[in-house]
Amino acid sequence: MKTIKVMTVFGTRPEAIKMAPLALELARRPEFEAVCCVTAQHREMLDSVLNIFSLKPDYDLNIMEPRQTLSTITAKCLNGMDRVLEEARPDLVLVHGDTSTTFAGALAAFYHQIPVGHVEAGLRTYDKWSPFPEEVNRKLVGSIADLHFCPTPANRDNLARENIVKGVFLTGNTVIDALQTTVVEDFTFGSEILNRLDYGNRKVILVTCHRRENYGQPMTNIMTALRRLADAFPEAELVYPVHLSPVVQEAAHKYLDNHPRIHLIAPLDVREMHNLMARCHLVMTDSGGLQEEAPALGKPVLVLRKETERPEAVEAGTVRLAGVEEEAIFQMAVQLLSDRNEYEKMAHAANPYGDGRACRRIADAVAWHFGLRDTPPEAFGG
Ligand code: UD1
Ligand code: UDP
Repeated sequence: MKTIKVMTVFGTRPEAIKMAPLALELARRPEFEAVCCVTAQHREMLDSVLNIFSLKPDYDLNIMEPRQTLSTITAKCLNGMDRVLEEARPDLVLVHGDTSTTFAGALAAFYHQIPVGHVEAGLRTYDKWSPFPEEVNRKLVGSIADLHFCPTPANRDNLARENIVKGVFLTGNTVIDALQTTVVEDFTFGSEILNRLDYGNRKVILVTCHRRENYGQPMTNIMTALRRLADAFPEAELVYPVHLSPVVQEAAHKYLDNHPRIHLIAPLDVREMHNLMARCHLVMTDSGGLQEEAPALGKPVLVLRKETERPEAVEAGTVRLAGVEEEAIFQMAVQLLSDRNEYEKMAHAANPYGDGRACRRIADAVAWHFGLRDTPPEAFGG
């Protein structure tokens, strides 16, 4: 039987969470030879995901350095990928999302004239500075890719507006596939503080914040609003697993240290994160992935950004855009913490991003593209 060699390439925590289930799905199927290359743009945060999914990469570029710049990440990925692609010679390279690894991975494959599949394709804000540099990364990958796996109909429509209509598949987001394997009822956390929190009677607010466009004043505004919130609501407990970026670490500790109800903790592994999300009261975040996961778990989200490329959950009513101004963030959170009706309006499960079968659809689409299947997969929601 003819087999197709498919290489997954990823490097950061969110790419790993969203690509691991796909890498495993490809490895399970006899029609594929699955190869996995990590750039390790993130080191500890990547390894944590690889551990949880028991995924062993075939290639590891190990590029991360402290306070790395966009140029060094891109250059090191490109150089590293040269050798890997020459040696492995895959039939298809799959990249995910919009990071520097994504862009460099796609560009390297293009230089080697290897077809590229883009997982999580078609997300757009149409503002090249927000998110920065992700909006431009994903557009560039969109013009390189041969196959485009769109999570939602809106993503597919965005590509159609750019005249990208060939090789487009509506699959749902693989993050929902991942989420379905991680959340359990009787979860025990690795840290004492998370086991001790009274999720029934306290208002546990899960916070994350790391985006480059929020560095500086926006991050100061966000942190100040969070501290005011903790002061104003004695029943609130803020849990903030702080991203390992030194810029983020400095900001978080500068504004949020030494408060009895603000818990700055180390990044959580993905199972802990999902189970904490499933138990919390409210999520405040600038993360892309959390905007997709929290709605599926019925948790309201305030997005700490000026805009979002994920409007589906805003439309479903479970996510609100809070912006990056201190007063606006504070007031929106106050409303949710003090007005039961407002809270209930947002606290319902919505699954606009997937049904847990995205990886299967992507693998089927790849098989169909290479003539190993007679029919394309049924579209998500179709
Ligand atoms: C990257 C992505 C962003 C994604 C985010 C997910 C780019 C340009 N940005 O941003 O799209 O939302 O990952 O988290 O690709 N660090 C460690 N250990 C780790 C991870 C990071 O020490 O495991 C530190 C290093 O000092 C590193 C810094 O964090 O230099 C920043 O990492 P980097 O990947 O450049 O940027 P992120 O903000 O993580
Ligand atoms: N996440 C995690 N541990 C943490 C924080 C986040 O496992 O301490 C997970 C989260 O559940 C989501 C993904 O990491 O699946 C999001 O990553 P991040 O916010 O770093 O990046 P983004 O999604 O914004 O690109």
